[in-house]
Amino acid sequence: MDKIIPAHVGIIMDGNGRWAARRGLVRTQGHLEGLKASKRIVKAASDLGIKYLTLYAFSTENWKRTSEEVSFIMGLVKKYLKSEFEFSKKNKIRTRYAGDMAGLPPGIQKELKTSMAETAGFTGMQVILAINYGGRDEIVRAVNKFILASSADKQVLNEKDICAHLDNPDIPDPDLIIRTAGEYRTSNFLLWQGAYSEIYISDKMWPEWEKEDFEAAITAFQKRDRRYGGIKT
Ligand code: IPE
Ligand code: IPE
Ligand code: MG
Repeated sequence: MDKIIPAHVGIIMDGNGRWAARRGLVRTQGHLEGLKASKRIVKAASDLGIKYLTLYAFSTENWKRTSEEVSFIMGLVKKYLKSEFEFSKKNKIRTRYAGDMAGLPPGIQKELKTSMAETAGFTGMQVILAINYGGRDEIVRAVNKFILASSADKQVLNEKDICAHLDNPDIPDPDLIIRTAGEYRTSNFLLWQGAYSEIYISDKMWPEWEKEDFEAAITAFQKRDRRYGGIKT
């Protein structure tokens, strides 16, 4: 069995609200603890030699929540971006973004752009923050980018055209997608790129996630038999 480290891992960080509710706390407290878990897992992934880590932090559907909860999450994102530079520098971690940035509050857009610019030269792991991200939205935006960029002689798209207009065309498809809090659905995460991703579902709530849980997911991935529709002899 080859102990291959996946190049790209995506995480649907779910269960912050339930974690809080079970302790008689407000949902926002769960998001605060969820942020701490994100920091632990970024470090764990970087130490393992993961090249790309996509963190699903806020979906295009999460705007349905109360304005208090949405503002709290946006505030946390901003705080995270502002405070992580030293950590990123030390660990050579580069910040990237996936989603529709134009739909984010201007303050967050500014911090995201600053963080991406300041870390652009870092050669370690790349952390892709998926905020106001939806897989369907990304595909629609990709098709529209294609239409805007294409000349009159090219009016039919193929898979390569779609890939080339996704949010981060240089990043390989995720090898592994992790979902915490025991839910068996994609909730609109990396629909195009996840076609052949291995899926790992954990019952633990995101705020409870430790380095060992991430390592267990990687070990489980290493036991998978990836066939991509073919046959392995
Ligand atoms: C994940 O936790 C964080 C976001 C979706 C922003 P939830 O807030 O969805 O927590 P649950 O699923 O309600 O427990
Ligand atoms: C998915 O979790 C989105 C993020 C983790 C950012 P949700 O809590 O929004 O998903 P559903 O509503 O359970 O499908
Ligand atoms: Mg949830």
